[in-house]
Amino acid sequence: MHAPDEAELSSAKQRVEELRAQIDHHNYRYYVLDAPEVSDAEFDGLLRELRGLEGRHPELLTPDSPTQRVGGSVGALFAPIRHSARLLSLDNVFDDEELVAWRDRVVKGLGREPTYVGEPKIDGVSIAVAYQRGRLVRGATRGDGDVGEDVTANVRTIRAVPARLRGGAPPDWLEVRGEVFLRVADFERINLEMGAAGKPLFANPRNATAGLLRQKDPNVTAGRPLTVYFHGLIRIDGKSPPSYSATLAYLRELGLRTHPEAKMLGTLDDVRAYVADMAARRHALEHEIDGAVIKVDRFADANELGATSKFPRWAIAYKFPAEEQTTKLRDIQVSVGRTGAVTPFAMLEPVRVGGVTISMATLHNAEEVARKGVLIGDTVVVRRAGEVIPEVVAPIPSLRDGSERAFVMPRDCPVCGTPIVRPEDEAVARCPNLQCPAQVLARIVHFASRGAMDIEHLGERTAGEMLDRGLVATPADIFYLTPDQLGQLPNFKEKSIANLSAAIGAAKDRPIDRLLYGFGIRHVGASAARALADAFGSIDRIAAAPSEEIAAVEGVGDVIAGAVRAYFDRPETKEQLERLRGAGVRLEEQRASRTGPLTGQTFVITGTLAAFSREEAKTRIEALGGKVTNSLSSKTTYLVVGDSPGTKLDKAAKLGVATLDEAAFTRLLAGDPPG
Ligand code: IVH
Repeated sequence: MHAPDEAELSSAKQRVEELRAQIDHHNYRYYVLDAPEVSDAEFDGLLRELRGLEGRHPELLTPDSPTQRVGGSVGALFAPIRHSARLLSLDNVFDDEELVAWRDRVVKGLGREPTYVGEPKIDGVSIAVAYQRGRLVRGATRGDGDVGEDVTANVRTIRAVPARLRGGAPPDWLEVRGEVFLRVADFERINLEMGAAGKPLFANPRNATAGLLRQKDPNVTAGRPLTVYFHGLIRIDGKSPPSYSATLAYLRELGLRTHPEAKMLGTLDDVRAYVADMAARRHALEHEIDGAVIKVDRFADANELGATSKFPRWAIAYKFPAEEQTTKLRDIQVSVGRTGAVTPFAMLEPVRVGGVTISMATLHNAEEVARKGVLIGDTVVVRRAGEVIPEVVAPIPSLRDGSERAFVMPRDCPVCGTPIVRPEDEAVARCPNLQCPAQVLARIVHFASRGAMDIEHLGERTAGEMLDRGLVATPADIFYLTPDQLGQLPNFKEKSIANLSAAIGAAKDRPIDRLLYGFGIRHVGASAARALADAFGSIDRIAAAPSEEIAAVEGVGDVIAGAVRAYFDRPETKEQLERLRGAGVRLEEQRASRTGPLTGQTFVITGTLAAFSREEAKTRIEALGGKVTNSLSSKTTYLVVGDSPGTKLDKAAKLGVATLDEAAFTRLLAGDPPG
């Protein structure tokens, strides 16, 4: 083997530097500006080329090479590190009154109103990262604020943390503070993988972030998409920017990611509006937040205000209601739904979460209980986010005392005593007894519900009382109730009897898709019901149609068709239809399916159109009698192709479906030939 000649080495060296600069630049475009210039594949190509060159010329390898995200020394992992300055925590406010009180103290301290910056309060893990002459030298957790743990090897694996700063003149020492987090989508994907591998799940994104940051093997951390936003200076040797807003701009110039939702706020009303906006968009952000942080912008003002031993006076966290809490799981019971599904649910020690007090939470099904490893008597994490029903997230096994016991799915239906069945290939256990009072009640409640026949004044309580008194046994019976019978219900007087009678009368004339949906046939949701009603125009025709004909309806298919057929084949259904007919309930109608030049044609849209939103394009097609669906099939007439189309384009080619670009689509809408 001979030494590589000088010329070759020098050209390799030059190329290595070029590649590193390009990769750093693309990382900056991607992570800081959120405006990548190259595709992932092109980026990977650069990285691959660099790795190849470094492999052939190990003497060119440096620790800050973008290829060196893993494999560094981990000897110092978790050793204590003293931060250059104390990392203070934030004081909290929980409502407008407390916010105004904080702002009044600020105004009093300064003698005037300062400008502020608002920022989301990221629910992640706080870290401190130090750069010496522009090179990443260490990353540490916050710890107690003075001393944290060395997590440099793991921080290096976070691709949004640059190994070297941009620009020619970095400060000698720059120590910044930031929040490491996982996007919710990435968290969910990781948990799916963990579940599939039979490993315990992470309770939430913050938990997962903390776990990954404290991984002993940085290769594991490297495989996970941790990311970061920086939100403060700890120490800068050199000229400091004069304000927080200038700091954010400076950090971005250096290649350090800052939050895109940070905003300058001039008045108290701006601050209030910012907090309200963040609260409203809490679940629309990519990552979890637990509040908004308001900071006095100018450092001169901030210094004047100073800090207590724990908190700065110049910043405040406006905390949103916690969406997770821990509480005791008292018991697991089961409920029986409309289709007989037997679902375990948790009886909890009441706890305030997501702004309301809950004492029950769903556990979905027995498999889920086993998968989560929840025992009766456990202390559990419960969650209620937005409008979502409360759920038990995970147990806290370290708090067990040995008295906990496993949940066993009952053998028999707790309501009617019929043995519960569970088909091998289904997660759901069912009570097979169609006459089970729990199912009958749930069917009636569903039938009367807003999305179905919309019978006002007929909720779960009233339906239950009707059943108890033997006034109804099936939904059709509702239409035969006499005022006398309604008068037997507790607290039903003349007025309430008249109201309910009128509501029942009005429901006789509902569109037939509502009736069909109200039947509560398995798999038939509101949109399948609409498709069937549009296609057949009559309940009797659906009831008489062979399975293949039902399955051929766009948006239906074999599974739904099978369930519909099975439902209408039951003798009880036939009887019910006659009762409905006898009561004068509408069973057929002229469906207003618009006809026009596009009648009989089906469209699928992919990618972004310049002149129309998806909804607008859909409305235009439907106005001309055409149909728009999401799934491409050989029945599709045209695939309309916008910018950045998805995989549907390939699929259309395979299926031989004609495509229209936006210009051709516009011509078609105008009544001209598309091609
Ligand atoms: S500023 C002295 N800004 O919240 C002020 N903190 O409850 C330093 N946090 O430990 C903090 N998002 O880890 C700031 N946009 C943000 C933040 C944020 C999350 C964390 C931070 C801090 C904790 C205090």
